[in-house]
Amino acid sequence: MTYLDDRANLRGKVAVVTGGAGGLGWPIVRDFMKAGVQVALCDRDAAAIEAIASEMQSASVKTLLRLADVRDSVAMDAFFQEIDREFGRIDILVNVPGGGFVAPLLETRPKGWQAVASQNFFYVLDTTQQAARRMIAQGQGGSIIYITSIEAHRGVPNRAIYGSMKAAVAHLAKTLAMEFHADGIRVNCIAPDIFPTPNSGGSAFDPQSPQGKLERTISVPMGRYGEGDDLTGCVLFLASDLASYVTGATLHVDGGTYASSGWFNWPDQGWMNTPTQEIVDMLASASKQQEGSSSTSRAGADSA
Ligand SMILES: NC(=O)c1ccc[n+]([C@@H]2O[C@H](COP(=O)([O-])OP(=O)(O)OC[C@H]3O[C@@H](n4cnc5c(N)ncnc54)[C@H](O)[C@@H]3O)[C@@H](O)[C@H]2O)c1
Repeated sequence: MTYLDDRANLRGKVAVVTGGAGGLGWPIVRDFMKAGVQVALCDRDAAAIEAIASEMQSASVKTLLRLADVRDSVAMDAFFQEIDREFGRIDILVNVPGGGFVAPLLETRPKGWQAVASQNFFYVLDTTQQAARRMIAQGQGGSIIYITSIEAHRGVPNRAIYGSMKAAVAHLAKTLAMEFHADGIRVNCIAPDIFPTPNSGGSAFDPQSPQGKLERTISVPMGRYGEGDDLTGCVLFLASDLASYVTGATLHVDGGTYASSGWFNWPDQGWMNTPTQEIVDMLASASKQQEGSSSTSRAGADSA
């Protein structure tokens, strides 16, 4: 065992990863397995589960893979009971699922609010109860990690419910850090910004295209979008004893976008917190042209 293995003290522990088969979940699971951590994962995507099944089964650590939706508390109960039977303990919980729709608040309905709240917040309460009760009974503490978002920490037009629910999770972590400290359970968040995944929408541009490269340089201080390892290193850290005095915290894993909030690195002009003169002129002339063409077509219609 190396010095760092010893300090981290992760080998042999049992991690539960919800939403672990795809997106940002799978790199987390894969890194846990490489670090000698046993993993139980659930995911609602049957194809994603099938795609990783053989790698999970041939891992050098014990694993469990189940098709289940985190919003279904009966399915979660069955999943945690199976973990009891297979592993007999839980040391780490990572909650990955999240997401929502894009619409101005005034165009949304209670059914949509409920769906986004379930997908981002209510299931977190459920899985946290399931894991924390077991950690407390075991008497050896544990680490709970929530994947939130930069949107928990800034306004997010047209995604009000998503942003509010992510903010609720960040708040929950702070409160539970206090409620659980006596039992040695730490609760922390990781707040990503842009990590292209199949479901994240991402950019309109191909990342390899000149437009894609320019977009990243302008909007991300580190000049690139996140990749799996950028996130998983932070999960390993928070799960491990290296983070033994870290609780109720959020790690912003975003290449600096939260720090730069509103500042852009424009080519030639450098950092500005407003659009460049060139862009403003370009947009102004485009809108003038549009006005011109709509008044021409109105005049055409009047004379017809
Ligand atoms: N990808 C990004 O750019 C980004 C940015 C900020 C925040 N986040 C947050 O990070 C987390 C992961 O993002 P992602 O892009 O990997 O998302 P994703 O939609 O790909 O989800 C990750 C995994 O969770 C599974 N999953 C989703 N909903 C589930 C449910 N209800 N029950 C069980 N499994 C479910 C998916 O099948 C997938 O395998 C989310 O909470 C998201 O809000 C992502």
